[in-house]
Amino acid sequence: MLDFLRPDLAELAAYQAHPGGPTIAGPLDRLDTNECPYDLGGALKGKLAQLFQDEMESNRYPGGDHGALKGAIAAYVNESCSALANGTVPPIGPERISVGNGSDELIRSLLIATCLGDRGRILVATPTFSMYGILAQTLGIGVETVERNPETFEIDVEAARRAIAAPAEQPIRVVWVVHPNSPTANALTSHELSWLRGLPKHILVVIDEAYFEFSQQTLVGELAARPNWVVLRTFSKAFRLAAARVGYAIGHPDTIAVLEKVRLPYNLPTFSQAAAQVALACRRDLLGVISETIQERQRLLQELSAIAGMRIWKSQANFIYGRLQRSDRSEAPDEAMAALTARLKQEGTLIRHTGGGLRITVGSPEENARTVERMRRLVPEFSA
Ligand SMILES: Cc1ncc(COP(=O)(O)O)c(C=O)c1O
Repeated sequence: MLDFLRPDLAELAAYQAHPGGPTIAGPLDRLDTNECPYDLGGALKGKLAQLFQDEMESNRYPGGDHGALKGAIAAYVNESCSALANGTVPPIGPERISVGNGSDELIRSLLIATCLGDRGRILVATPTFSMYGILAQTLGIGVETVERNPETFEIDVEAARRAIAAPAEQPIRVVWVVHPNSPTANALTSHELSWLRGLPKHILVVIDEAYFEFSQQTLVGELAARPNWVVLRTFSKAFRLAAARVGYAIGHPDTIAVLEKVRLPYNLPTFSQAAAQVALACRRDLLGVISETIQERQRLLQELSAIAGMRIWKSQANFIYGRLQRSDRSEAPDEAMAALTARLKQEGTLIRHTGGGLRITVGSPEENARTVERMRRLVPEFSA
């Protein structure tokens, strides 16, 4: 290790988008990163190409205040929130929104804004999205981990309470939850929610709603009453823009003002800002495909659950979580799931082996049919 580098980073494993060796040649069903199976489509791409041609100046830095994009995001958030709410929800204005280079950037900014410089640690309940812990470690921020109920994946709230109450040099400053969680696909329960609602104001609660469009469950309506909550969303999933890297945070104006100070000045390329605005303007078309994803999710749940040797959990997201089981219903070891993942890859299906199980993105009907066929054939071999 070179002397000028931080030794703690030597031990840290870099995030691997597609772990398990090089990707094989030939067509692949990429069901390991929870993207939408469909590209934007010719009409929208044409519109973007036209914008690039006519209006984007490649020699100029991007607009730095994201004003137009924030306005469009606010309109979408308010529209979707009031469509779901029983009563009226206080509308969100642009002063409550910060836009990031993917929600990954916002995760890092939130860590910098709260815990950096030995100010505190974060709390996560595993298995969950790994980037909270990875980004915390890159910043030298401690990560307190609690477990989840092994049957339901509900957070062990009592353990979390104890961890927060325990005297420590560096207090827990941020609690991270995903709603619905990745990789286990479960939404927050009323028990978890009442714990989050009762957390003291000096603890930031980050609710990551990356999969909101699939779950149709949101806590945005509570933000006005809860200054210590932030909701994260992304354009990488339902909006089909993973390549553009656009995410957003919604929260108290003071938190948002700090996120704006912490981010890089030109964090979002002109093209990405335009892509997100075009996607929002065409949201009825783009999000129209979600009903197919939800139908396909149901089909996959049924068909995968029927495979002997496979245990599948319900899902509120665009992916399914499962584990291999022995015939006596005990869990198969992690190595068996790693081996099945590697074999599926050889056959042309990428899934993710994570959090002690298998996470499979809901793809197109053709991809899902291939997933079911391959799993029917391979699961008995790997769960035996
Ligand atoms: C829960 C969760 N949050 C955030 C992200 C990252 O989103 P982005 O592409 O906006 O950085 C992901 C990506 O898979 C995710 O699963």
